[in-house]
Amino acid sequence: MLLGTQAVNDAGHLEIGGCDTVDLARQFGTPLYVVDETALRDNCRRYQAAFAARYPGESEVSYAGKAFLVTAMARLVEEERLSLDVASSGELYTALQAGFPPERILHHGNYKSDEELTMALDAGVGRIVVDNFFELRRLNSVAGEAGRVQPILLRVAPGIDPHTHRRIRTGQEDSKFGLNVRDGAAMEAIQEALRMPNIKLLGIHCHIGSQLLDAKSHEDAIDVMVAFLAEIRERTGQTMAELNIGGGLGVRYLPDHNPPTYEEFADLVCGALTTSLKRYDLAPPRLLQEPGRALIAETGTTLYTIGPTKRISITEEPGIRYYVSVDGGMSDNPRPQLYDAVYTAMIANRAGQPRDRVVTIAGKHCETDILIWNLPLGDTDQDDILAVQSTGAYNHAMASNYNRFRRPTVVFVQNGQADVVYERETLDDLLSRDRIPERLAKRS
Ligand SMILES: Cc1ncc(COP(=O)(O)O)c(C=O)c1O
Repeated sequence: MLLGTQAVNDAGHLEIGGCDTVDLARQFGTPLYVVDETALRDNCRRYQAAFAARYPGESEVSYAGKAFLVTAMARLVEEERLSLDVASSGELYTALQAGFPPERILHHGNYKSDEELTMALDAGVGRIVVDNFFELRRLNSVAGEAGRVQPILLRVAPGIDPHTHRRIRTGQEDSKFGLNVRDGAAMEAIQEALRMPNIKLLGIHCHIGSQLLDAKSHEDAIDVMVAFLAEIRERTGQTMAELNIGGGLGVRYLPDHNPPTYEEFADLVCGALTTSLKRYDLAPPRLLQEPGRALIAETGTTLYTIGPTKRISITEEPGIRYYVSVDGGMSDNPRPQLYDAVYTAMIANRAGQPRDRVVTIAGKHCETDILIWNLPLGDTDQDDILAVQSTGAYNHAMASNYNRFRRPTVVFVQNGQADVVYERETLDDLLSRDRIPERLAKRS
């Protein structure tokens, strides 16, 4: 499985963005996150173009910053003319420091503190996506105090249960996110928002889940959302200007993962939308989306150095297990522990070698942090470079300092050039927030 600009060069090494990954590992150390900038930019353009060509109304794509956000990424998203979805004051601050236009920012979250609401208002973010009654009322009063009228979308739960890991399902009714359509809470909130002096209701939002490998759940959600738009018009006389259907399109973690292409996805989504809008005689609202994983995941590769291998006998087939340890694990990629996420990998310095040995890739944390179980990989030697693919989304973003590991460097690569966008943390960074109370200070 070669993704984006990945290729095998004459030395038999994996190359990304024209850079030899073995050289990258040597130059920047491992673990190292490598982001294929050419593929990333191409994804941003193709996703936007797929919808612009098919949707009869206006279409706006926001990159979901939670998947991966550093200031350079915010700059790239800006350059590619996408909007940006943020879900905390940290993400908002990153965007603002990168000079991202606030009017193209959407602010998410199911519990935005007053501090976050005030920061968003002061920054002039384009839309706040309101999750619940509590927040709606707080925002109305905070905006009133600031003398502002804040544009919002209301997040609703359409009652769709997508087929994905239970921890990344969000569109079902039994969810912490959004107001339920079916029990009337969403309509009540719409009516209340329309009466509020400091709120400008632009439309409705849903996000049903992540890593969805077909468009079925999106099509089902669109049916519910468009019916709800029609109900809003009937009950309030107001036509909502915007419909945001969130993100969720899946990616290839394994060679047999086969998500729709952007163009196929756009065909299905726009087809479902056009049919539903016609049914209710509604003009196309502005269509907003928030893909995260679909834009960035496949453009990321993590390089590790292989260390010790342990060979043990097991009772199940094939009777032997090789635990191949790498110099990272759950602190740079917690997804296998969180969601049983699956990955594939190759030996970057022998990228074309036969995959005639099955191994298990183990991290080096004080947990059983297995990154990949039973991977057909072939021979492994100490100091080989292991390249784990499709790590661009929710890896750096979810990285931690568990075991006091330092978060790794992130480089953007393109046209043979590698630029650091996040520098490996130092040991002193790990101590920089520590404080020693006087009573524990070392006495001389
Ligand atoms: C509100 C919202 N929008 C967008 C996304 C991005 O989802 P994905 O990365 O699956 O596209 C998420 C992910 O959790 C989300 O919660």
